[in-house]
Formats: sequence, C-alpha cells, structure tokens
Amino acid sequence: MEFSIKSGSPEKQRSGCVVVGVFEGRKLTASAQAIDAASGGFVSEVLRRGDLEGSLGKTLLLHAVPKVPADRILLVGLGREREFNEPAFRNAMSAAVKALKSTGTSEATVCLTDVPLKRHDTGWKVEHAVLAIMEGAYRFDQLKSKAPENKRALKKVVLHVARRNEISDGEVAIDRGRAIAEGMSLAKDLGNLPGNICTPTYLADQAVELGKRHGIKVEVLDQKDCEKLGMGCFLAVARGSNQPPKFIVMEYQGGKRDEAPIALVGKGITFDTGGISIKPAADLDQMKFDMAGAASVLGTFRAVAELKAAVNLVGLIPTCENMPSGKAVKPGDIVRTMSGQTVEVLNTDAEGRLILCDALTYAERYEPEAVVDIATLTGAMVIALGHAACGVFSNNDALSRALVAAGDEAYDRAWPLPLWDDYHEGLESNFADFANVAGRAGGSIVAACFLSKFAKKYDWAHLDIAGVAWRDGKEKGATGRPVPLLVAWLLTEEAGPA
Ligand code: BES
Ligand code: MN
Ligand code: ZN
Repeated sequence: MEFSIKSGSPEKQRSGCVVVGVFEGRKLTASAQAIDAASGGFVSEVLRRGDLEGSLGKTLLLHAVPKVPADRILLVGLGREREFNEPAFRNAMSAAVKALKSTGTSEATVCLTDVPLKRHDTGWKVEHAVLAIMEGAYRFDQLKSKAPENKRALKKVVLHVARRNEISDGEVAIDRGRAIAEGMSLAKDLGNLPGNICTPTYLADQAVELGKRHGIKVEVLDQKDCEKLGMGCFLAVARGSNQPPKFIVMEYQGGKRDEAPIALVGKGITFDTGGISIKPAADLDQMKFDMAGAASVLGTFRAVAELKAAVNLVGLIPTCENMPSGKAVKPGDIVRTMSGQTVEVLNTDAEGRLILCDALTYAERYEPEAVVDIATLTGAMVIALGHAACGVFSNNDALSRALVAAGDEAYDRAWPLPLWDDYHEGLESNFADFANVAGRAGGSIVAACFLSKFAKKYDWAHLDIAGVAWRDGKEKGATGRPVPLLVAWLLTEEAGPA
C-alpha cells in the first residue's frame, strides 16, 4: 500500500474516490461541506432523501457528483458530533476501507482527518488511518490453492490534511503507522499459519530471517543448549513432542551501548493440546494461536527496527509444542527450573508458565531495565476482561501504568490486575517448592503469581493476551495485538524511562 499526504481543497481532488464524513443529523464535516458547495448542493440533496443519516460506520457511495473531478465520493457516518472520539474515528475509518474495497477504485483520497478529536492531533489521526487501512487490506490467503479474485485492490491512499503545515507531522505519522501495521501483519501471518507449518523450527527460521533483513542479532538455542542452561521446566513441556524445541534470543541495539535493554519474552507454544491433561476437542484448532505472544515479540522487533527506534531491545522466545505422548511430562512430575526452584506439574495444560519461567530466569543475564512477557496464558483472562483488553500484572506500578497508557494511546487496550499474596497460597505443594496450578478461582492472577516468582531481580510486567490475540467466528484469525501497545510503549521509552 502506498500512502501520501496532501493538503488543498477536497472538492478539487482528482481521485478514484474522495472520502468525507457526515455526522448524525446529516451534519457535514468541513470537507463534505466544500464538496457540497462545489457541486451546487448535490450532497445535501442526496442526504435529504434519507439515504444516510450519519450513524457511525454507515456509508453511502455517490457517483457522478456534478462539478467535482473525483470519480466517486464516499460519505461516511461519524455518529454524534458531541460523542466523536478515538474509537469512533477508528470505526469510521474501518467502515470507509470496507466500502472502498467493494468499489473498483485502486486509489482514494481520505478526508476524515479534518474532524477534531479532544485528545489527539492530526498526527494521531494519520497514524490510525494508516493502521485501519492496512488492517482492512490484510489478507491471509497463502494457503488457498486459488488466490481469491481481487479485481482492483486499493493500492494508493492520499491522506488529506487541512493545512500545509501539517504535512511533515503527517509524514512521520505515516511511517509510524506503516511500521506498526507491518509488525502486526507479521504477527498475524505467524499466528494464522497452522501448527503443521508454524513449528518451533519455523519460528526460529523466521526470527533469523528477520534478523538478517533488519540487522538484529539472532541466536537460536537448541535442546542441548537448554539442557546445559538447566531449563528443566521448558524442556519438560517440550518432551512430549516430536518437534525439537527452540529458544530464540534476539538483540536489537538502537540505543547507547551501555544502556540497559528492555527484554520482551513471548510464549511460543506452536500447538497446545494440553498434554496429558488433554483439552476437549471443541475449538482445539484455536490452540495454534498459542504462540501469539512470540509472534507479537517478532512483530514488535520488526516495527522497532523499521523505525530505527533508539532503544536497546532483547527478545526471548521459548518455543515448543505441548503434546501428550509416552515421553510427555505427567501430572505429579516434579521438575527443576533454571532458577533452581522446583515445580510440581499438577496440570500439564498450564504449560505456558512452565516455559516462560525459564525464559524469565535467562533474562537476568542482561540486567534489563525492564522485562515484559507476553502470553496467551489463561482461558480465565477471556472471562475476566473479554476481548477488549489484555491483562497487565506487574511488580512495579509505574511500569504497569506506562503499559496501560501506551495501550490507550495505541488503541490496543490493557487493564491492570493484582498480584497480592492471597493469590499465591493456592500454589503451595507438599512435594516441591510450589505447584504450577491452584484452583479455578482467579486463574489469570494465579498464573501471573507463578511467573512473579521468577521475576524478582528486575522490574517486570506480564501481559495475558488470551482474550485479544485472535478472533473467533466468521472473522477467525490473529489480530496482531499487542504489537501496537508494545511499540507505543517502547517509543515512549526512547527518551529514557520516566
Ligand atoms: N493456552 C492456554 C490458555 C488459553 C485457553 C488461551 C483458551 C485462550 C483460550 C493455556 O496454556 C492453558 O491451557 N491454560 C489453562 C490453565 C489451567 C490448566 C490452570 C486454562 O486456562 O484452562
Ligand atoms: Mn495449556
Ligand atoms: Zn497454552
């Protein structure tokens, strides 16, 4: 997709389609007014007939509008003017892309950035317009034998700004939006690929590829290396599978040499059957998405490298399958973690925490400024926060607040949950230092408490993305979240920690 920025009169744009907004009650935005005036009141006349009231996300395509050079005008409902906010902007943009896709035009001029938002400037709107457009254009058809017919896909988008002095900010915003969207798109592709293709080895190869293209140092540790490091917990999960486990280590240096890095740790279970504590058959295919945390780390590295962000970043990805077999770890087995602490595996389906704990210990060697792990860790997360926000757990309130703020800014929300001592009790074991599960109550918090036992040497946060990493139903597919949150947070860290 090609993006550019332009200022100038909306009614004079030569374009396959000019996109303008209409508020509820048929109130025209500035660019819609300009087109209405140029066309001798054509737009308001159409609206008077009642074809579009201005409800958020409704669209109306007009052809042959008199006296304007554009082939088409697309009117997009923006909802109530007083209630217009950031989510409404994203909704309107998505609706516009959907409508544009059903036309034959390959280019469009989008004039929806003329609508004021209380909290954000044109830069934010341009960035999010790019994100919404690239989101709308995303397809995953590499495994279909015939690529679906796609006459004339949207290829060029001009983002219209009201004033010339907004152009340079707009260009920066385009780059940012595109980098984030490309990072998301990598995360989506990896997530959508099935478990028979996206294996631990495949993920490791992708990391190596990404490293070559962007100057990121990538090292892949194999089973023997992990044995030497004492990652008994990670290897216990990997043991049931015929696919060899990999531990991916990525290092991006965009900041000063001596600056402590931020470490991102991603859960890379390429398929989660539950192991011996096997899951029921319904919806089991969705457990191919159980490497979404790993995918978001790779996507974030791609975006950060593309933007040449001035941060030092370490990526750690323990990746394996969770399978039942004669060799698999069994309920009651006790394993030794890299930290030396022992764990009684009471449920082999609570495997995410078992692979992450060794990665958290491995992170210590970097003396990191902060560590954030990202994981589709618990089904209970979906019950707690649904699909709107991921859960944030942290041993540092400022870090937690910074992540929530970044999620808000990026329209990729996160919400804090506690790690109080009360929730640790259930993990007590008669046979090992602790167990890997407690009762069902507060499942996401208990899982985070388990991880916190391995994150005592640095500031740490855990993002449980089980509810946000993919969509179910007709639109089934990976979302690319929380790449936007992570990139937004890292860009605020560029200036040094708050
Ligand atoms: N990958 C799952 C979590 C999950 C389940 C995410 C469904 C999204 C949808 C994780 O490994 C898991 O199985 N967790 C168990 C933990 C339980 C055994 C304590 C769960 O959530 O049921
Ligand atoms: Mn599991
Ligand atoms: Zn899992």
